[in-house]
Amino acid sequence: MNKLVTNIPHHVAIIMDGNGRWATSRGLKRSRGHLEGSKTFQKIALHAYQIGIKILSVFLFSTENFKRSVDEVNYIMNLVVKILKEQFNVFKSKDIKVIWSGRVDNLSPKVVTAINQLVNATKNNKSGTLNLCFNYSGQDEIIDSVIKINNDLINKKITKESITRELLNKYLYHDLPPIDLLIRTGGEYRISNFMLWQLTYTELYFTRSYFPEFSSSEFDQAILEYNKRERRFGGIKDETKSH
Ligand code: IPE
Ligand code: IPE
Ligand code: MG
Repeated sequence: MNKLVTNIPHHVAIIMDGNGRWATSRGLKRSRGHLEGSKTFQKIALHAYQIGIKILSVFLFSTENFKRSVDEVNYIMNLVVKILKEQFNVFKSKDIKVIWSGRVDNLSPKVVTAINQLVNATKNNKSGTLNLCFNYSGQDEIIDSVIKINNDLINKKITKESITRELLNKYLYHDLPPIDLLIRTGGEYRISNFMLWQLTYTELYFTRSYFPEFSSSEFDQAILEYNKRERRFGGIKDETKSH
């Protein structure tokens, strides 16, 4: 890691985009792009923990991705089952706790079981957290949280006055800290319904690289760029500055 990097972000998120275009630009099928992207995913995740990142949230499949052809969706579903099984021992042995954000709706039991097995097997791990956003929608996460809050209000488990940002955060799929840095590969400048609540004051890093070709050194480049940013959270940096 570069010497200029003094501040490793705690929570990093990645929108792993551009698998399809990586493949078609090489005359390959889109599925090949997903396969290569899955290899990059493992490499980048392990690299992130190695340089000291504690929480990594990755966008694997959005609820909107069901709009794609049945063939592509089926390929991705089977690939996810395969990589979760293959990477099972890797995340276990690296002491990484794997968690899942998303809805069960429309997923086959095979996929749900593969994710849950990894989640259960790693639940006591402490060195890092890997948040798999799979069949995930940022807006639906907030809706699901509101539904749970409403139920607890009806059952008098909480009061209206107790509803704060911190409380809502606890009702999300996981009570995670805010995202410090978001990386999106693939050249698009948008959020595509990713973690809307957790991205409030996140630093954004966009790269044209397609995800399969995204490298550990480019990941480090994003961390270096993050170190140059001045985060103000709505305040001003130097309080003594003239009014
Ligand atoms: C990201 O790559 C993976 C998923 C959304 C499942 P894409 O498949 O969106 O690739 P592009 O953006 O079409 O190139
Ligand atoms: C976002 O990419 C979802 C994932 C990377 C899993 P998309 O390819 O679905 O986003 P859009 O359609 O270009 O906004
Ligand atoms: Mg895309």
